[in-house]
Amino acid sequence: MTYAAITGWGACLPPSVLSNDDLSTFLDTTDEWITTRTGMKERRISHVSATEMATVAARRALACAGLDPSEVELIVYGSCSNDEQVPNSASGVQAALGATRAAAMDLNTACTSFLYGLSAATGMVRSGAVKSAVIIGVELISPYMDWDNRNVSVLFGDGCAAVVIQATDQPEGVLGEQLGCIAGARHTLRVRGIGGAYANHGVLFGDTQWDFDGQEIFKRAVHAMIQASASVLAKCGVRPEEVDLVVPHQANLRIIEAVVTRTGIPMEKVMLTVQRYGNMSAATVPVALTEAVAEGRVRPGSLILMPAFGAGLTYCAHLVRWGARVTPLSVSEATLPPSPTTALERVMAIRAGKVGAMARSGAGLQPARLFSAQEGIVGR
Ligand code: ACO
Repeated sequence: MTYAAITGWGACLPPSVLSNDDLSTFLDTTDEWITTRTGMKERRISHVSATEMATVAARRALACAGLDPSEVELIVYGSCSNDEQVPNSASGVQAALGATRAAAMDLNTACTSFLYGLSAATGMVRSGAVKSAVIIGVELISPYMDWDNRNVSVLFGDGCAAVVIQATDQPEGVLGEQLGCIAGARHTLRVRGIGGAYANHGVLFGDTQWDFDGQEIFKRAVHAMIQASASVLAKCGVRPEEVDLVVPHQANLRIIEAVVTRTGIPMEKVMLTVQRYGNMSAATVPVALTEAVAEGRVRPGSLILMPAFGAGLTYCAHLVRWGARVTPLSVSEATLPPSPTTALERVMAIRAGKVGAMARSGAGLQPARLFSAQEGIVGR
């Protein structure tokens, strides 16, 4: 029987940090409110495109696996904040890596995109369609954020991570998963102005508006992730106490505590990054996984539970068996260029761009570009 072992891992976090105190300089909010309601202290704001973050993370993951880009047979790009819709983003990463043999596909299930992508790629490896794949979770949310809406703008950050999977006859990688979607709750999180004609009606492109029912999402997410976790553990014949580490989606510390404790797992077994990076949507789980390995929290043969949810409302829980190796085979030198601005300066520029876009629209002019090529953001 063929399995799909995780053999490489690598993250790419933009260097600019936006703190809760930074947010309170232009929003009616406080560090105390954000910390107690969400667990978040800071998040990252990118000065480069999502594809650039994805390329650096993929290079690091490939070096870790000891795999040359020319050997990769599939790239899955999990995201809901693509630099452009056509052509797809995975092809941009393929070109940047020189992974000329790789099939390239984008996958959008919002925050669960990385884990849905891991399922899709694992299935292809197990069927024999491909022997290796790079799965990326990446988000560049800051340009699409409605920064003046404190209900949402304190919650999200930018970031990226990737893993490499390879065919093996050892029972490693994804042992089982439970995937689902509560489509009756899709109205609880909708971003208008991010792309697509229907939802953009009456909203200027780039001048995004977030329809967001935080309390309803909270309740639905907790219930769905508890059900999915119980289901995948039962399917795999694993008891909660046999799980070595939980790497959950990190939208809110209180959501994580509710899911993990009601699944019967102590909080000491949970990898937390929410305090440092906020919710990076699809990037959250792979970044936390990469940091868990670096911190020595993933051991040879570890059983890892990964519950997540996202807009849709999509949800899932994966059970992964780690392999024997917990150290990289080699280290990539790929890195991002330094940021020319602070995170707060960048956010202020985005806010000013949106105000400018609205004013020009009112004057019957074309919508403004929020980013210039010189700033490193492409595809907008
Ligand atoms: N600063 C200060 N006050 C705020 C802020 C803020 N940033 N945001 C909201 N408030 C106010 C509200 O206006 C409200 O005031 P009111 O009582 O006068 O109306 C008050 O704080 C309480 O708001 P609640 O909604 O009751 O706060 P709650 O404890 O539910 O926390 C939160 C809100 C953090 C959004 C929580 O509901 C949550 O985490 N929900 C899920 C979030 C989530 O899932 N995000 C990701 C979506 S899917 C994905 O991952 C892509």
